Parts: sequence; C-alpha cells; structure tokens
Amino acid sequence: MKKTAIITGGSRGIGFGIAKQLVEDGYTAAILDKNELKDYHENFNQLTAINPDCMYYQGSITDKQEREEFVSRVVERYGRIDVLVNNAGVAPKVRMDILEMTEESFDYVVGTNLRGTMFMTQLVARQMIQQPWEGEKRGTIINIGSASTTVSSTNRGEYCMSKAGVFMLTTLFADRLAEEGILVHEVRPGVIDTDMTKVVHEKYSRMIEEGLFPIKRWGYPEDIGNVVSLMCSDRFVYTTGNYVDVDGGFHIRKM
Ligand SMILES: NC(=O)c1ccc[n+]([C@@H]2O[C@H](COP(=O)([O-])OP(=O)(O)OC[C@H]3O[C@@H](n4cnc5c(N)ncnc54)[C@H](O)[C@@H]3O)[C@@H](O)[C@H]2O)c1
Repeated sequence: MKKTAIITGGSRGIGFGIAKQLVEDGYTAAILDKNELKDYHENFNQLTAINPDCMYYQGSITDKQEREEFVSRVVERYGRIDVLVNNAGVAPKVRMDILEMTEESFDYVVGTNLRGTMFMTQLVARQMIQQPWEGEKRGTIINIGSASTTVSSTNRGEYCMSKAGVFMLTTLFADRLAEEGILVHEVRPGVIDTDMTKVVHEKYSRMIEEGLFPIKRWGYPEDIGNVVSLMCSDRFVYTTGNYVDVDGGFHIRKM
C-alpha cells in the first residue's frame, strides 16, 4: 500500500513543490487548499499523472468543520495518514509598520499560520496515534516555518510572530508525540520564488545579487521539497523538534 501524505496549501508554490516530490517518492498526496481546483488543475494534473489516486479538497485550515471533513475523507479513502506537511500560510495583505498594524491583519495572519496549523496538527496527531507503527515510527509531521522566525521585519511583524509561534508548536508536538512514534520537524525557507514573494521580486532579486545570501540565487519550491523528502524518509528517524534552514545560508551571521 502506498503511504499517504497530507499537504496543506498544496495547490501552488512551496506546497505544490513538496507534493510533487512526495508523489515522486511514492506517496499518495491529499491536498487541502482554500483555492478552487479549477484555477490550479494543471498543477494537480501533474500529481495525478504520477499517481491517479491523489486527492484535492477545497477548504481552509482555519475552519474546524472543513478540517474535520477533510481528515475523515482522507482516512476513509486511504486508511491512514503517514505524513502531515503544514505548509498553508499567508503574509499580511498589506505590509504596515508595526506601529500601524491592525488587529484584523494580526488575527488573519496569526489565525492562519499559527492557530490553523495548531488545530490541524492536533487533529492529525490524534489520528496518527491510533495507527499501527510502520518501521521506526507511526507518522511524520513537518511544519513549514520561515527565516522570519528570528529575522525581524518591522513592516510585517504579525507574520514574524506567527512563525515564531510555529517553532514553539514544533517543539511542543515533538516533545508530546515522540513516545507515540510521531516525529515532528520544521523547515525554514529563506526567500523562495512563489506567488507570496511576487510583490517583492524585484527588490529581493537586487538584494540577492548584492550578496544578501552566501548562495547567490533565489530558492525554489523544489529546494524545500527535497528537504521534506529526506525528513519523511527512514533515514531521518533519530531526531525530532529540530529545524533546517533552507535559505542559501542567509542565517549565517558574519562580520
Ligand atoms: N515564499 C517564501 O519566500 C517563503 C519563505 C518562508 C516561508 N514561507 C512559507 O511557506 C509556505 C508556503 O508559501 P508560498 O510561498 O508557497 O505561498 P503561496 O501564497 O504561493 O502558497 C500558499 C498556499 O497556501 C494556501 N492557503 C493559504 N491559507 C490557507 C488556509 N487557511 N487553508 C488552506 N490553504 C491555505 C493558499 O491558497 C496557497 O495555495 C507558507 O507557510 C509561507 O509562510 C514562504
């Protein structure tokens, strides 16, 4: 039987890159995304061309009923969940100085990136705990954090705070779930070429050229997919609650 991987926000961008890699690795992908499938069917078709059994569910990680319906459909159809990739996330609709940030923007970003991820993880973890072990584990949960966990951007503070919260979420679930045979890891992308970074594409391209990162190029969704692939594999089993920076070396402090 093929293993099942849930990828939230997998219709495009980093989530799609992860889904594509996992399907190539032999997983069946179950996508939960608020986007309508008709706008992203070309991406989804790339998954079903490799594995026709992949599924797409339009819904939000912020909606309890949609989360529950999605997870019960996945379990009904595939019998178990081997991997959860918490990738769905949003940036503020408008970048604003922290002195001007609105409560609405804070609730939108933190409500999605942190609250949505928290309750999605709780729901899937409860399911994984009931499943038999497969080799050294019962399941793997991977959170897509960000370099913004520790890098200050005062014009999108709600995003930074939400991702800092995700790191504690990684820590807490890793601690709680280790004895249950569920490993929890985090990937921290730097600057990845997706719709999310479209608005700052020119600015970041210039900064990259000027040496912002030791590895002088944009990151791509495949860069994240490759690391997630390794984290899900049986070659990554004696660690939990850790993160990997996938950021071209951006995190290195130098003088
Ligand atoms: N692009 C970057 O440079 C970068 C850097 C660091 C971290 N990240 C993180 O990577 C993840 C993916 O980002 P991306 O760049 O691919 O962005 P993106 O906007 O291209 O894709 C995000 C996907 O998540 C989905 N989504 C958003 N809110 C959702 C919700 N409530 N329920 C279900 N689906 C939802 C969107 O519909 C979209 O398909 C995010 O968590 C983001 O914070 C991105």
